[in-house]
Formats: sequence, structure tokens, C-alpha cells
Amino acid sequence: MSIPPAPGRQAADAQTTGQLPPPLARPAHEVTPLYGAEFAADPYAVYERLRRYGALAPVEIAPGVGAMLVIDYRAALDLLHDPVTWSKDPTGWQETIPQDSQVLPMMRARPNALFTDGEIHARYRKVISDSFDRLEPHEVRRNVREVSDQLIAEFAQDGEVDLIGQYARLLPLLFFNRAFGLADDRSDLLIQGLAGMFDSNTPEEAAAADAAYTRYITELTQAKQLERGQDLTSWFMDHPAGLSVEEIIQQIVLTLAASYEPLSNLIGNALSRMLVDDRYYRDLSGGALTPRDALADVLRNEPPMANYSAHFPKRDVYFHGHWLRAGQLVLVSYAAATTQAGRAAPGESTGAAASGGGAHLAWAAGPHACPAQQPALLIATTAIERLTAWLSDIRLSVRYEELRWRPGPFQRGLVALPAHFSPVSPEQAKGMTWQNRDR
Ligand code: HEM
Repeated sequence: MSIPPAPGRQAADAQTTGQLPPPLARPAHEVTPLYGAEFAADPYAVYERLRRYGALAPVEIAPGVGAMLVIDYRAALDLLHDPVTWSKDPTGWQETIPQDSQVLPMMRARPNALFTDGEIHARYRKVISDSFDRLEPHEVRRNVREVSDQLIAEFAQDGEVDLIGQYARLLPLLFFNRAFGLADDRSDLLIQGLAGMFDSNTPEEAAAADAAYTRYITELTQAKQLERGQDLTSWFMDHPAGLSVEEIIQQIVLTLAASYEPLSNLIGNALSRMLVDDRYYRDLSGGALTPRDALADVLRNEPPMANYSAHFPKRDVYFHGHWLRAGQLVLVSYAAATTQAGRAAPGESTGAAASGGGAHLAWAAGPHACPAQQPALLIATTAIERLTAWLSDIRLSVRYEELRWRPGPFQRGLVALPAHFSPVSPEQAKGMTWQNRDR
């Protein structure tokens, strides 16, 4: 991807030479919401409007919660690769926002890899990344095939499905329930807890989901303290970093939460683009482009995490044309930064995007970049391959433009993805969970 010169580049360089540049002339600050129906319907139009501010723009991520949003690619890289200037620790900032704000669960300080800096961060992160490195790709693939088949068998006879609610949002939970070491019959509690926390509409629902999630994590860690297995929980526990039980619980909670929404959205966004793009099929299994191409297209043009990487300047800083106060919230828009030089709508992705080329920031960058990129891609690819192998004539039931997107500043994911296909016979469907395991 060619990266246009950043408006604030000269100014940012001047900071390091000790000369103080004047702030760039820019429009008086209006605050643009990154929540609500308008943003959910077309966030890319909002990012384009924000470009008049330069490399960073003032936004509101929830009522009363302001942030500066980095929308320029080079500025995003400069921030993500500079842990000397920037901290990930929200401790001071979180006291300054409404305490009932809906963004607090995603932003509040916790002793885990995401919200810590330096050596503490490195220690937590190593436990997670070393453990993920121990996952055997063929085991990952086998487990994804099996949980995919279980899910597909549930709706295969119906001829129609919501690929978000009945597939993309359940599959990561079924997979990670196994990968963390519990039997399939415990996955309901995880679904109740984690899916419930993200999807709850009332404080009561949120509290019930929170209680289920706590119970799940407690059961999981107690079971593995009694008996280790070949699973992520056991590897977290036995890692040479020697985390305490509390620290292990925190890293499990983070890893499950960090995998759930983005992985669901990666699968859902890729399927939505495949189902409206003839290059993937006349017949999905016989098309010219593959699920890997669809995933590359999504990472480049519809990143599942749109805006995150909350950072706080450790001191007042002049950054790409903007003065920022120590401790103020700065977020990175992976979506805006990556699409700065252009964006392909579904069905019109470029050769570079289709073949996986084209720089993007969908996994962030720097010390906090996603440590699970390879397993995430393997899980998503296998899940999509499995679905399209079973339901080879699957089609979207509504026009792409009619699809609704989940509101909120951080994620880019669909509310539902209605599709139809030729029903699979009851006999075939019964066989799904065992017959084709090794296909
Ligand atoms: C197997 C599934 C996944 C797991 C287990 C996982 C796990 C994690 C963890 C533990 C972190 C924190 C790393 C740190 O702070 O050092 C992280 C960060 C991140 N992940 Fe993933 N992730 C998964 C899938 C995804 C997907 C599908 C995406 C989007 C394409 C994604 C995007 C990100 C981004 C943007 C960050 C940086 C967040 C920030 O610094 O605020 N992840 N992930």
C-alpha cells in the first residue's frame, strides 16, 4: 500500500529536534460520536469527514467520554512503536469518565497484558504467546472442523441460517472451551457468560452473564489445578514465568475476551463479503478466490477491530500536528489508518487485497500487536472452508446493503447474516459430527 505523506510528519519530527512548531491551523473542535446508528451504518464516511483534522481527530466514544483518534497510517505506526512516550495503563484516566459508562469494561485497568507496560507486560505476554505457540496447527484444524460440524448439523436441514448468531459467534467459544481444556458440555456456561456479557441489553442480563463467566473461569482453573492436560490453561500454569493463580486467571479472562469478538467478526465479515462476490463462487467450492483471500480482504478493508489500542501520553507531547496532554485518551483507528489510501467495497477488492498483499493494521503493531494472528487465521479459514464445503450453494438472503452492523466504537461486526442453501438431508446431517472428521 502506498502511504501518503502525513500532514503532521514535519511537526512530529520537529519535536525530536527540540524546536516547537506552531499547532497546525485546523477547524474548531466539534466532537464526532463513534457510537449510535449513523456511525454503525457507515463508519468509513465518518472517518473521511474526520480527515480534515489531520492525523488525529477529536471524537467521543460514549456520551461524555472524549478521545483523540489516530486516523493516519504513519502516525498510527509511530504511536504503536513508541512505548517510551506512550503508556497502555488507564489507571489515572479511568477516574475522569462517568463511572457507569458502557466503555469502561473494555477500557478499565486490569493486571493483564493489554493494560500494562514494560517488563510486566512482557512477562504476561510471553505466557500467552508461548502457550499459543504450543498449539499444534493440525490439532487446531481438527478441533475447528469438529465444532464447525456440530454447529452446521444444528441448522443444515433448515435451508436457512443466521451465520452470525448460529455460527460465527458460537464457533470461537466452542473452540476455546476445548483449547483451554474443558469438555464440550461446559461450553454452554462459557456462551452464557462471555456472549451474554457482550450482548446483554439490561444491567440484570449483564450481571447474570458476569456471574456465569466468573463461574466458568473458576471451574476451569480449579479443574486444571487438580489435573493438568495438553491445553492452554495448563501451559499458562506451568509456564516458567511462574504467574500466580490470580495472574493466570487475568490472562485467561483477557485471552478469551480478546479472541471472542474479533474472531467472530473476522469470520462474519469474511462470509458476508464472500456471499456477494461472484469470484468466490458460482459454486463456493469451485470459485477462483479462496477463504484466505476473503480474510485478507477483510483485514485490509473491514478490520474486525476498528478502533482500539487505547494509549495515554506519559507527558504532554506534540504529536503529528496536535498537542496532547499527559494522561489523555488516544485511540488508534486501524480501520481509518488502513483505508487512508482507499478502500475496496465488497466485490471490488483489488488484486493486492485479494492475494493478501497491502499493508494493514488490523492486528495493531508494536509490542501489543495481536499475539494470536496465525491461530486466528487458521481457525477462521477452517471454519469458512467447513461451512462452504457442506453448504456449497449458500447465498445471502438479503442485499448486502441491508445488513445491519453492531453499534459501538471498537468493533466492526454484523448483527446478523441471513443466508439460505439447499437443505442437507437428516441422514447426512446426523453424520456430520463424525463421518467427515478427516476431510
Ligand atoms: C485466536 C483469536 C485471538 C486471540 C487469542 C487474541 C488475543 C489477543 C491478546 C491476548 C491481545 C493483547 C496483546 C497485548 O496487549 O500484548 C490481543 C491484541 C490485539 N488483537 Fe487479538 N486475539 C485474537 C484474534 C484477533 C483478531 C481476529 C483480531 C482482528 C483481526 C485481533 C486484533 C487484535 C488487536 C488490534 C490487538 C491490539 C489491541 C490493543 O492493543 O488495544 N485479534 N489479541
